[in-house]
Amino acid sequence: MMGIKYYEDERIFKLDTPKSTYMIGIVDDEQFVGHIYYGKRIEDYHLGYLMRTEEAPYVPSKNNRDRTSFLDCFPMEYPAHGLGDYREDCLMVKTPEGYTACGLNYVSHQIFEGKKPLEGLPATYGKEDECSTLELVCMDQSLKLEVTLVYSIFEKLDVITRSVRVRNLNDAPITLTKVYSACLDVENKDYEMITLHGSWARERHIQKRVIGHGKQSVSSLRGESSHQDHPFMAIASPDIKENQGEIYGLSFIYSGNFMAQTELDQFNTVRAVMGIHSTDFAWVLEKEEVFTAPEVIMVYSSEGMGHMTRTYHDLFRNHLIRGKYTHKKRPILINNWEATYFDFNTDKLLDIAREASKLGIEMLVMDDGWFGSRSSDNCALGDWQVNEEKIKGGLKYLVDEVNKLGMQFGIWFEPEMISPDSDLYRAHPDWAIQIPNRTPSLCRNQYVLDLSRKEIRDYVYDMMSKVLRSANITYVKWDMNRQISDMGSFYLDKEHQGELYHRYVLGVYDLQERLIRDFPDLLLENCSGGGARFDPGMLYYSPQIWCSDDTDAVERLKIQEGTAMIYPLSSMGAHVSDCPNHTVGRVTSFETRGYVALAGTFGYELDVTRISEEDRNMIPDQVEMYHKYNDLVREGDYYRIASYSENHTHDAWQVVSKDKKEALLTYIQVLAEPNYHSRRIYLKGLDIHTFYEVEETKKVYSGEALMYAGINIERIFGDFKGKLIHLIAKA
Ligand code: DGJ
Repeated sequence: MMGIKYYEDERIFKLDTPKSTYMIGIVDDEQFVGHIYYGKRIEDYHLGYLMRTEEAPYVPSKNNRDRTSFLDCFPMEYPAHGLGDYREDCLMVKTPEGYTACGLNYVSHQIFEGKKPLEGLPATYGKEDECSTLELVCMDQSLKLEVTLVYSIFEKLDVITRSVRVRNLNDAPITLTKVYSACLDVENKDYEMITLHGSWARERHIQKRVIGHGKQSVSSLRGESSHQDHPFMAIASPDIKENQGEIYGLSFIYSGNFMAQTELDQFNTVRAVMGIHSTDFAWVLEKEEVFTAPEVIMVYSSEGMGHMTRTYHDLFRNHLIRGKYTHKKRPILINNWEATYFDFNTDKLLDIAREASKLGIEMLVMDDGWFGSRSSDNCALGDWQVNEEKIKGGLKYLVDEVNKLGMQFGIWFEPEMISPDSDLYRAHPDWAIQIPNRTPSLCRNQYVLDLSRKEIRDYVYDMMSKVLRSANITYVKWDMNRQISDMGSFYLDKEHQGELYHRYVLGVYDLQERLIRDFPDLLLENCSGGGARFDPGMLYYSPQIWCSDDTDAVERLKIQEGTAMIYPLSSMGAHVSDCPNHTVGRVTSFETRGYVALAGTFGYELDVTRISEEDRNMIPDQVEMYHKYNDLVREGDYYRIASYSENHTHDAWQVVSKDKKEALLTYIQVLAEPNYHSRRIYLKGLDIHTFYEVEETKKVYSGEALMYAGINIERIFGDFKGKLIHLIAKA
């Protein structure tokens, strides 16, 4: 069944998902491609009037004297630069003569079932019976530049993906100085913009702001998606809540520089654009060459933010994340970073593993510091040989010993980096990204490798794969601990320097693709100084990403709430760590730390031989809790129930199995309040006709009572306390 139709009589394309409709129209003799509608599903297609071509300034064939006025108000599907649309555009060029303008007109189209992969880029995927695609071919006749707008819809999800292919049909090369991936013009309804922001240790906090006149954006020029801003934005009605209000989500499947912007124009239209940031971007397209802009995922919900969230979760779990772990329970790991930092050796790691294995932990991950002369974060990145002074007996011995304990073994790499104090840098100083005759800025005392070069990628990959083949390693944590500066490559000529940021990201993708292709059983966890590269691009390669270096249970509530707004809980790297917490010094109970980590991949990040006996004794129960609930947490529907970032006292979320027969509510009381009764909490996503038994109390409630009348959570005495409520449908 094809959800995309072309209505020849009115030259209208209609894309339908279960609950949303997107419409595009071709207008005038010049074949302008206009945006008609995106919103709640509509069966009627006679909506071309929404493009307002019957009112002044009319279309150019009727009123060419006011052509710029037309271009400046027409809702162009993919606006180009410099001909009269003064709002934000998506496409800009530089011709050999130095001209920058371009304009696109419809040429042809193709509708087919399924979806093509995006060459060299991460993208959503789907079978022929799961999705269908519209490709609209447009041309700038004077530049001989062909631009194909690609739209795919998923038949069972309210998702429309977009990407763009640009092909140069001219004999002369042309430079693309801006190629965004999507534009969306919507009539303003006092919309707000929802975005995610932060810094190291406080990633992805939610921010809402009114969309006012002018431009408002989130972006990154840091060479990665970043701690600071996130490649996501939503446009939402002011009444937006979990279960009510209208929301458009735009998420960018890309891990480098990006721009996500809204602009409220003079006619009360909001134009949203998303794509690779155009600053420092200049891509030379030779004759017949094609440039592909990464994919944007649009989700529309007229039923509140929750539906958008669950749509992204389902899409990511079924059509973005790949590999054998996508729907599988992950081993409970213990990572030695917060346990030892750089101060470890074989004996220390085996002590941790011995104790951990007794408690039911399933994997030991050896973090930073096992290679070259790395005894601090000042040196040795690039020297990926095992330091046998620390790892006495060698890596294979260590891994075998860990395996003998019944545990798997994982290892940390930071493949993209090079320390000035490393053998690699001494041999190849030109391998670092830098500008000739300018000393590059250090960050964490390291430089970034020029991954635009295949020989450097080959070298890094060989080093990594040698290590991985030398022992029974089943997990890799891929870290990236600095943002990029001093953009310059010794190997690109002056015409091509502007390609470096994007070529770098393509280089990272190439490396990760090789890794998962050659080691299909490997569990890959991406990481970037905490959660600076928690983005859909990386999720295509790794089913989980380290959420943040902040492992404090209270701080994590905000981080995980923002992250879970888009990303499934199965993808959020979350560990129980020791207290006082290493980032904020807060002391929370071991139990609460467990509840919060349960909402992610779940693992430990502490020295299990040194924590209090009381805490240690709780681990087997937490392990059991993980095994009991992980299927539900990983595969279920997620509902936000209460937000600590909004109410400043408590947080609650819920996961419900797809068949609605089981649910788990996690309630965290951050700050206790005096003189309080029990707290009334309203559950979500249950079946109103089903009766549910609360496992802990054996009390039975109807689904409708739990949702509409609520349940009382007994008053808890003390700060930072939590509670799980497990509901099982009565037969
Ligand atoms: C940053 C990561 O987020 C940490 O978990 C740890 O791996 C350090 N880097 C190691 O340098």
